[in-house]
Amino acid sequence: MIKKHNFSAGPCVLPKDVIQKASESIMNFNNNSLSLIEISHRSKPFVDVMEKARSLVKELLEIPEGYSVLFLQGGASLEFLMVPLNLMKKENGKAAYTNTGTWAKKSITEAKSLGEVIVVGDSSDKNYNYIPKGYKIPKDVDYFHCTSNNTIFGTQIKDFPEVPSLMVCDMSSDIFSRKIDVSKFDLIYAGAQKNMGPAGTTLVIVKDEILGKTGRNISTMLDYNTHISKDSMFNTPPVFAIYVSMLTLQWLKDHGGLDWIEEINKQKAELLYNEIDRNPLFEGVANNEDRSFMNVTFTLTDQTKSEQFDQMWVAAGINGLIGHRSVGGYRASIYNALTLESVNVLVETMKKLEKI
Ligand SMILES: Cc1ncc(COP(=O)(O)O)c(C=O)c1O
Repeated sequence: MIKKHNFSAGPCVLPKDVIQKASESIMNFNNNSLSLIEISHRSKPFVDVMEKARSLVKELLEIPEGYSVLFLQGGASLEFLMVPLNLMKKENGKAAYTNTGTWAKKSITEAKSLGEVIVVGDSSDKNYNYIPKGYKIPKDVDYFHCTSNNTIFGTQIKDFPEVPSLMVCDMSSDIFSRKIDVSKFDLIYAGAQKNMGPAGTTLVIVKDEILGKTGRNISTMLDYNTHISKDSMFNTPPVFAIYVSMLTLQWLKDHGGLDWIEEINKQKAELLYNEIDRNPLFEGVANNEDRSFMNVTFTLTDQTKSEQFDQMWVAAGINGLIGHRSVGGYRASIYNALTLESVNVLVETMKKLEKI
């Protein structure tokens, strides 16, 4: 039985009903006396799962015509390379990137191996505690790349910039947490293991017309067109990860979709940030206006209390609150499936510490 309040940054909490159904599918999928993980990915039951997962993505995000939805492998980290391979011109390729944290930096490294990278916004001067704004993107770049939510540092883009080129976004840690206008983006990618499902698949949403224009010879598996032409089934897909993603997306739809979850995520984030701001023992790490609604980073103002606080939140049944080593302090990841009740338990623990 899962009873802990799981604030882990990823892999992380999933809806309990989803975990229940997922575990049943391992023992007996669709009542056909076979396990989900032992049937052919070409069989109708799994093809139906793949189709349902892709159509739920389109429906929940209201994706316009002209985009393909893929479930790939290799994590968001492989997309750091696939994006420039598929979008950066072979001759004089050039892309603009924002450097807003560890993951953004890794995406820049991959792009640099294929062409020129212009870093148009950079928050490394303050250990990535803010989102750069007001930067200029040169008109002649092949694309602009940003990270919507910086999982480690707890910052999030609230207003996406207007760009003179294609816009690509790594939405690994806040996809499906709020409404977005997909038509502003040409390519979105996200590892599944936050708001969508278990690790093992990566969601890619790509505008078809932007592909095949680089003059590069792209290896088969790294070419988005390969996967588009085979309905995301070019090779054996990660069946379990896709099935659980489908269940999570269905859970989201059944409860009211992005309107519903955005409101709940706002309530959770406000509850926790209000306590961080009110309680003299705590302070937030990220700039107020850039605070993430998914990963809340904070520290103790009095380090002598850390042992006591750590014992208290563990005793309260909280898991995964320790901050990333590059930030320190604490990080409460409050993804879609984490309940308001769990945030309340954390807030009450913070209040208790103040009273001691
Ligand atoms: C924003 C962001 N991008 C990329 C990654 C890397 O994802 P993966 O482990 O799926 O390669 C992560 C992982 O946490 C992330 O948070």
